[in-house]
Amino acid sequence: MKRSRNKNKFALFFIATALVALGIYLIFAFERPLRELLKAQMGGLGSKANTIVNVLQLVFLGVLAYLIVRALNTMVFGLVRFRRGFEAPTLVRNIFSIIAFTVLFFLIFTSIFPDANLGALFTTSAIFGVILGLALQDTLGNFFAGISLQADRPFQVGDVITVGVQRHSGVVEEITWRAVKIRTFQNHVVLISNSTAAKEPIEVCPRDNLNARLVFFNTLFTDSPAKTIHVVREAVREADNVTQKIAPIVRIRNLGDSGVEYEVKYWLDDYAKYNDTDALVRQRIWYAFRRANLNFAYPTRSLLVERKPKPGRDGDGGAIVERLGAVDIFAPLSSEETEMLAQAATSHVFAPGETVIRAGDPGSSMFVVHKGRVTVQVSENGRPRTVATLSDGAFFGEMALFTGEPRTANVVALEETEVLEIGHAAMKRVFDTNPDLVESLSHIIAERRQGLVASEDPSTRSEDSSAGILSSIRRFFGLS
Ligand code: CMP
Repeated sequence: MKRSRNKNKFALFFIATALVALGIYLIFAFERPLRELLKAQMGGLGSKANTIVNVLQLVFLGVLAYLIVRALNTMVFGLVRFRRGFEAPTLVRNIFSIIAFTVLFFLIFTSIFPDANLGALFTTSAIFGVILGLALQDTLGNFFAGISLQADRPFQVGDVITVGVQRHSGVVEEITWRAVKIRTFQNHVVLISNSTAAKEPIEVCPRDNLNARLVFFNTLFTDSPAKTIHVVREAVREADNVTQKIAPIVRIRNLGDSGVEYEVKYWLDDYAKYNDTDALVRQRIWYAFRRANLNFAYPTRSLLVERKPKPGRDGDGGAIVERLGAVDIFAPLSSEETEMLAQAATSHVFAPGETVIRAGDPGSSMFVVHKGRVTVQVSENGRPRTVATLSDGAFFGEMALFTGEPRTANVVALEETEVLEIGHAAMKRVFDTNPDLVESLSHIIAERRQGLVASEDPSTRSEDSSAGILSSIRRFFGLS
């Protein structure tokens, strides 16, 4: 379709050029007889006859100049499109044509009318210019604003822009001498005059840039943030048109009335398709929620009739007894004693990166890792050194609890971690019925102390310190 239209255009162009060339040939070949004929016809008005012939020549040459400029325009900007791969803006093409035509016309005019007083012509045209300028104030305003937009190049064809307080948004299709033409996402065409575009704020999302979008969602307060963030990030990064170059970011933006409010920030390969991609991202989140058993929050008013559980306990009593029973230092305890310890234990959940224990703080409880992982770190020359990584079933915080000294290291959650805290009173009850426990604990503490002080010689220090620790635990807990 486009090709046949182009063919027609070419044919028309060649016919017009041939006709004009023929006209020019005839007018110059028969110049003399024509002048004679006109002179004879007009009697005494010989100079007028000359002017008529000259004006005819000027008109024909002017039309030829116009056709040449059109051909040049097509060639030059066709080459630009071929080399650079994009269409030059209409405004630039028009300015090129106007300048080229003015120069050619000026040359033709001076060669046909060598005696014409151009100064006088310009003076009259200046007056005309003022009159025209006033009449075409808006049009000229748009024209010059268009030129400044071209010089500035704040956006190009193919970019997505949002203009002004009315927030017209769409893909730039054309920048003409009068207006910027954008195609909205409802497939409407909006024309924004150049002078408006030059005055209003414009938000530009360039075509060859990784532009980002935010999509919002929420979950119930009971759904774990660490799990939600992981599940949503994995679901979104696979979606079409979400770029592989930058991983999406999922973060909490608010703890709202109905639930935890999140935002997903993702980058698009093709920003012009952001409506579809936003929708796809929401769809992926829905399915991911379904698979991972996560729940969207919605405005609710629930009446909860609650039987108050023990503070800090999650009602998961059986699992806690099982967990404590599997901790090696509690292996000698009877099942009743383990049950009693579980009753006394308090559960706490820490987010990845949160500090459970800070070195130097006083401490009167120890912890068992129920679910997750923690790292034990000491500060060495102002830098953290990892001493150990502890996971499900390991314990920490016993040193301060059993010796009464300040905490010896930082313990930080590596992932979402649930710990069970056991206090001084509960441990004292355990020691009263299991005095041998103190000895095995003192060995563990001695070993861990050596891990903290890397420079000490382990072979010599272990026995001494474990004996010392044993007596200090006995003293601290008032054991015989
Ligand atoms: P506490 O000193 O109360 O607080 C920091 C805890 O880090 C400490 O008790 C131990 O439970 C733990 N800890 C210290 N050093 C080590 C180690 N070398 N290996 C494992 N855990 C340790």
